Amino acid sequence: MTSAQGVAATEVICAAQARRGSYHRLLARLREIAAGSRNARHSRPSANTRSLADKDAPPPRRVTSSPGHRLDERAWRNARMLAALLEDEHAYTAEHSTSVVEIACAVAEECGLPEAVRERVALAALLHDVGKIVVPTEILDKPGPLTPREFELVKRHTLSGAAIIVGTDPELAEIAAIVRASHERFDGRGYPLGLAGEEIPIEARIVFVCDAYDAMTSRRAYRRPWPEALALAELHRSAGTQFDPQVVDALTAIVRRQRRRRSDLAEPH
Ligand SMILES: [Fe+2]
Repeated sequence: MTSAQGVAATEVICAAQARRGSYHRLLARLREIAAGSRNARHSRPSANTRSLADKDAPPPRRVTSSPGHRLDERAWRNARMLAALLEDEHAYTAEHSTSVVEIACAVAEECGLPEAVRERVALAALLHDVGKIVVPTEILDKPGPLTPREFELVKRHTLSGAAIIVGTDPELAEIAAIVRASHERFDGRGYPLGLAGEEIPIEARIVFVCDAYDAMTSRRAYRRPWPEALALAELHRSAGTQFDPQVVDALTAIVRRQRRRRSDLAEPH
């Protein structure tokens, strides 16, 4: 698919979905999530987002990152169209991407990142798997292990995704770069470029951890969801090799607070 075909396809799909209003709501919600608690009095974040980004939290850990510039209205609209295209092609991946947005935004807030960075985290999380539209569904939904050739095809989704995003709107080039880096490992053994540590944009390090966490804790047709504790243990096992340890710690703090809150609510008073 050329980028021009991609844009034409997304426009058709988005026009149909916009009539139902679903993507206007998604856009509004993404903006609320990205704006975070600073605008809480002026916006109404979803209940899930409020619980993920707990305001009783200890002072956030600071992670170095340059804020960069905010994206314009057209870039947001084009990102939304790509999300619509992904939903049309592979509903599970679109649903998973929306969950990753929610978790990743809470982690970005926990890390004390500025608003422009949180905005990029939201958009990159939404679009991190858009390249999977060029991977055959039989491979994406395969219940068993992938063959080496199938795995190579799946691995290309970061590059295809980046190409689709930047081809749709050059204004989204930074988001494309984050998506391309969203499977780079902290120890430099990831793909496609083998970037390591802080060479990997913080947005991509956050998306990578949250992507893995959501994948582990989600139900698939061929397996049950993992319990939160098991998924966190797996992330910690790979902290410092696959994942950025600070990002893993931030997600762990969020999940533990959620768990405490749930058990407080369950306590008889
Ligand atoms: Fe993903």
